[in-house]
Amino acid sequence: MAYTRITAAEAAALIKNGENIAMSGFTPAGVAKATTKELAKIAVAEHEAGREFKVGIFTGASTGQSTDGDLANAQAIKYRAPYTTNPDFRKHVNLGEIPYNDLHLSHMAQELRYGFYGDVDWAILEVCDIEEVGNDYHVYLTAAGGISPTAARLAKKVILELNSFHNPNAKFIHDVYEPLDPPYRKAIPIEHVGDRIGKPYVSIPKDKVVGVVECNIPDEARAFKDSDPVTEKIGFLTAEFLVEEMHKGRIPQEFLPLQSGVGSTANAILGALGEDKHVPNFNIYTEVIQNSVIEMMLNGRVKDASACSLTVSNDCLMQVYDNMDYMKQHLTLRQSEISNSPELIRRLGVIAINTAIEADLYGNVNSTHISGVKMMNGIGGSGDFIRNAYLSIFTCPSIAKGGVISSIVPFVSHQDSSEHDVNIIVTEQGVADLRGKSPAQRAECIIENCAHPDYKQLLWDYLKIAKMGQTRHCLTAAFAMHDTLARKGDMKLTDFAEYVK
Ligand code: COA
Repeated sequence: MAYTRITAAEAAALIKNGENIAMSGFTPAGVAKATTKELAKIAVAEHEAGREFKVGIFTGASTGQSTDGDLANAQAIKYRAPYTTNPDFRKHVNLGEIPYNDLHLSHMAQELRYGFYGDVDWAILEVCDIEEVGNDYHVYLTAAGGISPTAARLAKKVILELNSFHNPNAKFIHDVYEPLDPPYRKAIPIEHVGDRIGKPYVSIPKDKVVGVVECNIPDEARAFKDSDPVTEKIGFLTAEFLVEEMHKGRIPQEFLPLQSGVGSTANAILGALGEDKHVPNFNIYTEVIQNSVIEMMLNGRVKDASACSLTVSNDCLMQVYDNMDYMKQHLTLRQSEISNSPELIRRLGVIAINTAIEADLYGNVNSTHISGVKMMNGIGGSGDFIRNAYLSIFTCPSIAKGGVISSIVPFVSHQDSSEHDVNIIVTEQGVADLRGKSPAQRAECIIENCAHPDYKQLLWDYLKIAKMGQTRHCLTAAFAMHDTLARKGDMKLTDFAEYVK
């Protein structure tokens, strides 16, 4: 194959201070890993020499240590969007050092195309195979669809990382499709979870590609916490609720595709749903496939799955590659603007199950901020899905940090999803069905069904001091539980008296 081989250090040395880089991948899955690690070293050396060195980073979602972690530690990020999960990056964001823009993931590629974030100087794509076809390279993506075709098309120059850790057969699960922009955009012709509408590769003019970095680097996916009695109970209650909906005729007998959020809770819940014999075999239409889905695909519980990434442990990824004859019939990876497309989520009737950090008495949900101030990860695709879902479900344990925090609060300390979009809240205490209820009815339903017994009375007390209105609140006391946590390390205040003015 005729391409220019370069080392990761040579590739990184081409990138200049202030430039913008768009990358492959979605979550740590499928992100280019070799060049940014070297770029972080350059940034450290430049800073030591007294020179500024920072770059903008755009990706499909989060990345791993070798991008978000190392570049954040090297003070080398001038701007970052749209999502992250890396603890080092999070630390620097919460110190106010990195301008981080938390976006709905379906928006990222199109907003780059609309020019909202300036020029894209570089695309760095991780690929598992490269073919030379006329004046183009056809490059095959690895464990994620992300924003790669947009990144490659908009970028002035492209670096490819040919990572032999990934099996070249990964090409069989990709459906690469980039929509046109308004006013030329057309309907996206997907009607079933497994429909494919694009090509298996990204096409890039050869003269844009400055070099290929050959490497062998494992994906940097995080390990999940094992399920525990609380997440298992939430999973059981969610499954029971969905089966009842089916018996009532509100979910068809063939079931509807499921979306499941990120993190340990979501992974455990999907596992619990799979084990419930009353839930028929189902399809998945989601953004992130975690370990539990692969297990269920291989045992037939999940029929077809569509997602943007395989955010799985590396041994689970190898299972996918080892079973490619089966997987290529049943698994499709797409770009984030397709996996998370509002049009498709609404058309397919997706049941969306996402995890909240906290929810309030009226059904508003905070998925991103601890105590209203500190960024956890970002909204991810939860907003894309829950706003457009057939049924939008949020789950969370009723308490956090050993019980000093109630996840059900009078008023969320930061809002990501609104009361207008949230249908159901499930904690290990029970299920609050908010459909068709007024704010006052929702408050009663949430306290009764979802709050932990240690906090129920406190929440009833809050309602007593809340001013009458369509949505009852006492604004001076709405954050009393958060304030008490900040001052005393526990949300359990004795009464609201000192907060009522
Ligand atoms: N107050 C303070 N801390 C809280 C909390 C609260 N109300 N609720 C949870 N936490 C803490 C946990 O204690 C844990 O802390 P630790 O890391 O120190 O152990 C941390 O938040 C994560 O909670 P955990 O129970 O491990 O949750 P998880 O792995 O299931 O992740 C979210 C939960 C909300 C962070 C995760 O789902 C997320 O980032 N969601 C937003 C993006 C999204 O929904 N994407 C899906 C789209 S498809």
